[in-house]
Amino acid sequence: MIIYKSRDEIETMDRCNRVVAQILAEVAGRVDAGVTTADLDRLAERLCREAGVKPAFKGYRGYPCVLCTSVNEEVVHGIPSSKKALKEGDIVGLDFGVVLGGYYGDAAVTVPVGRISREAEELLRVTRESLLAGIAAARPGRRLSDISAAVQGYVEARGYSVVRDFVGHGIGTSLHEDPQVPNYGVPGTGPVLKEGLALAIEPMVNIGGPEVRIHSDGWTASTVDGSLSAHFERSIAITGDGPLVLGGDVEGL
Ligand code: CO
Repeated sequence: MIIYKSRDEIETMDRCNRVVAQILAEVAGRVDAGVTTADLDRLAERLCREAGVKPAFKGYRGYPCVLCTSVNEEVVHGIPSSKKALKEGDIVGLDFGVVLGGYYGDAAVTVPVGRISREAEELLRVTRESLLAGIAAARPGRRLSDISAAVQGYVEARGYSVVRDFVGHGIGTSLHEDPQVPNYGVPGTGPVLKEGLALAIEPMVNIGGPEVRIHSDGWTASTVDGSLSAHFERSIAITGDGPLVLGGDVEGL
């Protein structure tokens, strides 16, 4: 069942997602060679405390941290560790959410560690642009799968693959609400997009094949073929005028 949000609720979600975006940008700005993924998690936790918001992921289905940190061939849900120091040339996905005023915000970005290969640079650019293509398709009167098809079309036209095993989602008073938002599909199917629908759109893009496997920690997902993977996510709302990116433009995302 899809829960449509009032203008007041969208306003609260905008404030919530602004905090998400600002903290995420600050954490992304801290990424550097020698920094551990646990350092980034600790920073995110402190910034939540200072902002007076509750981290959304810690304790969710037993997830142990505030941040997900997915390095190189890791796709999503990497668990921060003091044993995992970032190295020049790595890419790291940072996925983060908070609760504010009873509403969830959720966003992710993948960032370079120092200088990275041309190939990695290109993957980050295409994945970020595929999110923008998905957002641009999120217009009232269109269908849910138009978003999915826009992401998939953008990615596959550039020779990469979209992950099928994880999807975007509705968002509101729960982190995950209906509907699911796959990053693949044929256009013109699924619910009609209407004002008040709030969605987290989150393409996960691999240089190689789309297959992923879950590590023995029960969370970390990696590409089966070991190829690099990137992940970008924003929460949006459908308005009468088109898509509204909740939290707005924040530099670094
Ligand atoms: Co999400």
